[in-house]
Amino acid sequence: MKSKPSALSPQPSTLGAQPTAKAQYEKPPELYDGLRLHQNENTLGCSPRVMEALARLRPEQIGFYPPYTEVTKACASYLGVSPEAVALVNGLDEGIMAVAIAHLRVTGSQLAPEAIIPEPAFEIFRFDTAVAGGHVVPVMPKNDFQFAEAEVLAAITPQTRVVFLTNPNNPTGVPVPFAAIRNIARQVPKEAVVFVDEAYAEFAGRSFIPELPSLPNVIVGRTFSKAYGLAALRIGALVGAPEVLDPARYAMPVYSVNIAAAVALPAALGDTDYLQSYLREVAASKSLLYAACDRLGLTYWRSDANFVLVRIGDRIDEVINGARERGVYLRSRSNEPGCEGCLRITTGHVAHTQRGIDVIEEVLCGAP
Ligand SMILES: Cc1ncc(COP(=O)(O)O)c(C=O)c1O
Repeated sequence: MKSKPSALSPQPSTLGAQPTAKAQYEKPPELYDGLRLHQNENTLGCSPRVMEALARLRPEQIGFYPPYTEVTKACASYLGVSPEAVALVNGLDEGIMAVAIAHLRVTGSQLAPEAIIPEPAFEIFRFDTAVAGGHVVPVMPKNDFQFAEAEVLAAITPQTRVVFLTNPNNPTGVPVPFAAIRNIARQVPKEAVVFVDEAYAEFAGRSFIPELPSLPNVIVGRTFSKAYGLAALRIGALVGAPEVLDPARYAMPVYSVNIAAAVALPAALGDTDYLQSYLREVAASKSLLYAACDRLGLTYWRSDANFVLVRIGDRIDEVINGARERGVYLRSRSNEPGCEGCLRITTGHVAHTQRGIDVIEEVLCGAP
């Protein structure tokens, strides 16, 4: 007689309902054996001061649940707000999920809450909206990727609960005008929030945070994964009026930021020379890439971030695969709205950007 399968017996195809295709997020493959120019990371990593702070960790600090007062103060002071206006998160990804859960889950028999997402966008907005049970309202891009303000305003309905904006945008690097953010924040329903993802704000040199006191329905999201090179430690922040942050705070585990991230962040923020030096590299890298694209006749969009979107055209797969064979990872964005034939390349450290340019040129021109 066959025994009943227990919940723990292997049953690969019967693990319950699969999430819908929309809700399914495919983790990027683990590619660590080459030059990673596909995830907008700081490819030389963090400040040496971060390594020193990590080395100073004592065993009992690992044994205790982490304290957050000092790191929250350091983060708030860096962002120019009071500590009550900051909610630390285990990477901005967690903050986005918390905002989605707080505002986009269906309660009772109401119509599905809507999230407006101007495309092309950071794909996590789409996935998190679907996971929370919300309805995605995409806004299609203009040809030049300039922010589609009128179209976003036209997409607002009584069911709108979140407008997800990224400034500068990922994957285009194009900025969102502050005037557009203000207009949107003034026109959404009173229950809604405008989420301004500033993952790349250090490279742009401007932030919407000083405007928050006059727009209490706006939440700014920040990460220390990019300019500060802390991606593996997972730390970011939601910034906003305490009342607008509370629902997202309740949607997050109490101790989601670990002690390594908590000691690393103040050390990273204290090393302004390290940040400035990376920002200079990013600026030089973008100039180098723009010049290469001009030489190769490739369309690109001037970026305020540490990456650039480049239109390769029909040969996009050949370039992505050819670069990978040469040990360089680039990200195809070809399936994103308006980005057909486009790749995104990190423009961080100049030597790494030069290597990226060389492989693109090699594949396209057949040079050795
Ligand atoms: C626009 C945007 N938001 C958020 C994130 C996630 O940041 P974190 O590493 O802090 O989770 C990224 C990472 O690529 C991003 O591009």
